[in-house]
Amino acid sequence: MLPILHALQERFGCVPHEAVPLVAEALNLSRAEVHGVVTFYHDYRATPPGRHVLKLCRAEACQAMGAEALSAGLMRRLGLEWHGTTADGSLTLEPAFCLGLCACAPAALLDGEPMAQLDDLALDRVVAEAQRA
Ligand code: FES
Repeated sequence: MLPILHALQERFGCVPHEAVPLVAEALNLSRAEVHGVVTFYHDYRATPPGRHVLKLCRAEACQAMGAEALSAGLMRRLGLEWHGTTADGSLTLEPAFCLGLCACAPAALLDGEPMAQLDDLALDRVVAEAQRA
């Protein structure tokens, strides 16, 4: 099921609700089983993201290096909550839980590319670049 869900998300940017019964039928599973998998994993989205996706790490090493204040400040400046997308559709903000970059915390992924030792200025630059691209 996971490769199918990944393929759907790669194609549509999300796993559409309409796909759940189709996946269930194809795999001879119940809709509840498929729904349970889709909602269990944070990486699956129910709606398409913005043009860029910023995943900020919220795990322990990044927390110890100020990630909570960093993400709270960014969300306040953008008027977003986790999984929210800016009004212009340029950026979606998602949480991540350890990116393997703990020694360079706080860390993030922008469209899958790692970013490390982040601060407010670096995040504001990311947002500005996302708005232009
Ligand atoms: S805790 Fe953030 S990268 Fe490991």
